[in-house]
Amino acid sequence: MKVKEILDKAYSEHHLTKDEIKFLLNSEGEEKELLFAYADRVRKEYVGDDVYLRGLIEFSSYCKNDCFYCGLRRSNREAQRYRMQEDEIVEVAKRAYDMGYRTVVLQSGEDPYYTKDKVCSIIKKIKKEVDVAITLSIGERSYEEYKAFREAGADRYLMRFETSNRELYQKYHPGMSFENRIECLRWIKSLGYELGTGFLIGLPGQTIDDLANDILLVYELDSDMIGIGPFIPHPHTPLKDTEAGSVDLTLKCISILRLLMPDSNIPATTALGTLDPLGRQKGLKCGANIVMPNVNDLKYKLKYELYPGKICINEDATKCRGCIESIIISLGRKVGQGFGQSRHYELKK
Ligand code: SAM
Ligand code: SF4
Ligand code: FES
Repeated sequence: MKVKEILDKAYSEHHLTKDEIKFLLNSEGEEKELLFAYADRVRKEYVGDDVYLRGLIEFSSYCKNDCFYCGLRRSNREAQRYRMQEDEIVEVAKRAYDMGYRTVVLQSGEDPYYTKDKVCSIIKKIKKEVDVAITLSIGERSYEEYKAFREAGADRYLMRFETSNRELYQKYHPGMSFENRIECLRWIKSLGYELGTGFLIGLPGQTIDDLANDILLVYELDSDMIGIGPFIPHPHTPLKDTEAGSVDLTLKCISILRLLMPDSNIPATTALGTLDPLGRQKGLKCGANIVMPNVNDLKYKLKYELYPGKICINEDATKCRGCIESIIISLGRKVGQGFGQSRHYELKK
């Protein structure tokens, strides 16, 4: 197989076989650089030079789950827990709007304290106060809850399937089920949300074959946004002594997904920026078109510790806004105006 042949096929057909994906995941040197260049070209042709910013509001660090990799897991007794109250969340959303954000992402651990009614009320209040798109990222809920959130005004939903390898999924998510997670994602899609999903790169035991399956599953789920990032070991979790995921492999996954799903939104994640000071820039140069800066107060930022060393943790939201804008401009790109809805979603409507 020749890398150029595969890339030309991906460029014209937006489809690859599993073997072709694996070939690209194993590419190195000039071949890898060619993959990145193709992805950057497709990004420019399909979603342009605009980089859309999403204001991330991490409103609760409580979680009933015990995912092996995550610092918020319920067994981590050293985690600092907080819950933001409704009015406070709305205030932060307003502040994000004033800073120019037109999407807020409401994210938390899986925290049943926020009942269906509470979440609906938060969504409605934000929508009443400011003209922003709302993305929810609060994990697995019932069909009725997803329906109610959508009716209350939620526009998008972000939930990674984390890994498509059933065995690894069961091992790292005690008490959870892969089938249920996929069912939730299908419900979300059927309710007309813009769907975001993705996976972790570098989970211990994960192979290149698994990653190729992960990429194919994102494709099959027809994701409007694609959230992928490297795994980073947290010292108070069972995976504390394992190695972090690879930045390079993450960039290859971003590139391949951009080729397969040219008009979906793909963030350059904070985890990528945490492992490599230039990680987000590298992501933006090989297919990504979104960045999700945190807009919360410092007192909360410090406590939402999924993994150690998170960037921006000591910077206030205004500083991050300015910083990220200069990064975007330095890459010859510009900050997108408006909601930045996924073109993939828009074109299907
Ligand atoms: N609780 C919700 C959920 O799991 O979908 C949303 C919040 S959860 C903290 C958001 C994402 O953080 C997860 O989908 C997971 O991929 C990522 N994450 C958790 N621990 C991580 C780690 N140690 N390294 C990198 N990413 C991590
Ligand atoms: Fe909870 Fe999400 Fe962390 Fe899992 S990844 S422990 S569900 S916050
Ligand atoms: Fe937060 Fe640069 S984006 S300090």
